[in-house]
Amino acid sequence: MKKVLIIGGNTGIGAALSLQLKEQGVETILLSRTQGGLDVTQEEPLFPEIIGPVDALVYCPGSINLKPFRALKLSDFAHDMEVNYYGAIKTIKHYLPNLKEAENASIVLFSTVAVQKGMPFHSSIAGAKGAVEGLTRSLAAEFAPTIRVNCIAPSLTDTPLAEKLLRNEKQREGAENRHPLKSIGEAADIAHMANFLVGEKSRWMSGQIIGVDGGMSSLSTG
Ligand SMILES: NC(=O)c1ccc[n+]([C@@H]2O[C@H](COP(=O)([O-])OP(=O)(O)OC[C@H]3O[C@@H](n4cnc5c(N)ncnc54)[C@H](OP(=O)(O)O)[C@@H]3O)[C@@H](O)[C@H]2O)c1
Repeated sequence: MKKVLIIGGNTGIGAALSLQLKEQGVETILLSRTQGGLDVTQEEPLFPEIIGPVDALVYCPGSINLKPFRALKLSDFAHDMEVNYYGAIKTIKHYLPNLKEAENASIVLFSTVAVQKGMPFHSSIAGAKGAVEGLTRSLAAEFAPTIRVNCIAPSLTDTPLAEKLLRNEKQREGAENRHPLKSIGEAADIAHMANFLVGEKSRWMSGQIIGVDGGMSSLSTG
């Protein structure tokens, strides 16, 4: 049976993935600040030891701090790097021995559509996620053929993280209309891709940044 470690599996995309995997009979280990007291932004996070192989690691912690560049403090940039980039590095470093013990292990990271497509007020998060994309390709090359590394780049998805951007019907409609597919993402839409990437069916994929974004990154419909 597969064992999948999800950092940030109690809400949003991680929770949707955890549900899907459990329905498939896959063993999941969920860690976050409220599940196991793991805060990846700490200098030395308290990673629980796991004995034996871990088949997949999915790193979900992220941030959305959208402000004009002049209003963003250096500490905002640093915080986004901590949560999105350094947190992923610390986690991968810690569980690498477990991943190496598995056959065809997989790491799944998260970027954002705002790396591929320039968007105002996204300089901090786009910078941090750009680093995640670089890390994805670099580690995919370094860890091949033992561990596959891929990254999903969602557009706006209805999760607790995006709550502030979806406070009322007007905001939601505006967001839906900005997408070529005229809707925003559901956590399950993104989780389906993560589910594919952790499993055997994606065994020949590594180093990819995959847009799951309602057409936002590559289509213009009007
Ligand atoms: N939702 C969107 O619109 C959207 C768009 C583009 C990209 N993304 C990316 O997709 C990924 C998943 O996002 P989501 O919307 O599912 O987010 P979410 O609902 O906020 O879930 C994030 C998860 O990470 C955990 N977490 C957050 N900070 C942590 C920390 N310091 N240490 C340990 N765990 C932490 C949270 O649990 P605790 O609170 O218990 O720690 C939670 O389980 C993120 O990387 C995000 O940047 C999302």
